[in-house]
Amino acid sequence: MKKFLALALVAAMVLCSMVAFSACNGGKKQVKVFEAYELTAESYAFAVDKENTALKEAANELLADLKESGELSNIINSFFDGSATFVYENPVSSVPTGADRENYLVVATNAYFPPFEYYEGNKLTGVDMKIASLLAAKLNKTLYIYDMEFDAVITSVDSGLADIGMAGMTVNEERLKTIDFTSEYYESAQVLITAADDTVFADCASADDIVAKLAAQDKTFIVGAQNGTTGYMYTAGDVDFGYDGFANLTAKGYNTGALAVLDLANGKINAVILDKQPAIMIARNSNGK
Ligand code: ARG
Repeated sequence: MKKFLALALVAAMVLCSMVAFSACNGGKKQVKVFEAYELTAESYAFAVDKENTALKEAANELLADLKESGELSNIINSFFDGSATFVYENPVSSVPTGADRENYLVVATNAYFPPFEYYEGNKLTGVDMKIASLLAAKLNKTLYIYDMEFDAVITSVDSGLADIGMAGMTVNEERLKTIDFTSEYYESAQVLITAADDTVFADCASADDIVAKLAAQDKTFIVGAQNGTTGYMYTAGDVDFGYDGFANLTAKGYNTGALAVLDLANGKINAVILDKQPAIMIARNSNGK
């Protein structure tokens, strides 16, 4: 009788762990990135206050040196292929203020954008974070990275809360009305992500094909993108930014690209539009690879 009870207990435990496992993973779909089909052409640069020409010049000088020495490509490649070892931890726990403020370079970012800025444990890393550390060293300042919603990066630079926005930020005319940009350091594009078993876009063979499919959907078709980004504007449309958007479908804004991909993997939305390299990395994480 005792033996039977023990066996029943083991069986129950095995069953429970199987249920728990399927609750975590069972519903989650694999996702795929249409990385060959670039929906836009964008360039990244850092955002500085229009008045802060000294900082803009220092950043441009650093970027020019990094480009000339080939170091910029090395940095970018090392974060793309995962060989980078750089991590950064803020020296103080809150945003520096008061008399000490000028000893700091305060960088505004949204650290949910691998490989440009993301967390490794509780430490920050990524292409922009590495360049931020080089800029702080060049200026002889202590680096403080201020992680905030992407929406807030430009206003925080404009208000002086942060000195520079380093957030995989796309240069465009509308943003230039509020802040200035350094020279460009990376070429990017928006791309589409769907569930791996999606059939809507399965026969697409070009960016134009994807655009045509997007334009053919109705309001029940939900496309996720990160709030305040060019990906969201491309999807929802933004007259000021010159994006027509897809008024036929439903655009859904998320705090981060990863949250949009999570909803996609859980079958809650139909597609995500995101910057190419972050799309590849976030999809890889979501797929557990
Ligand atoms: N390149 C896009 C834009 O400028 C997305 C940037 C998102 N960056 C981030 N750190 N979350 O709108």
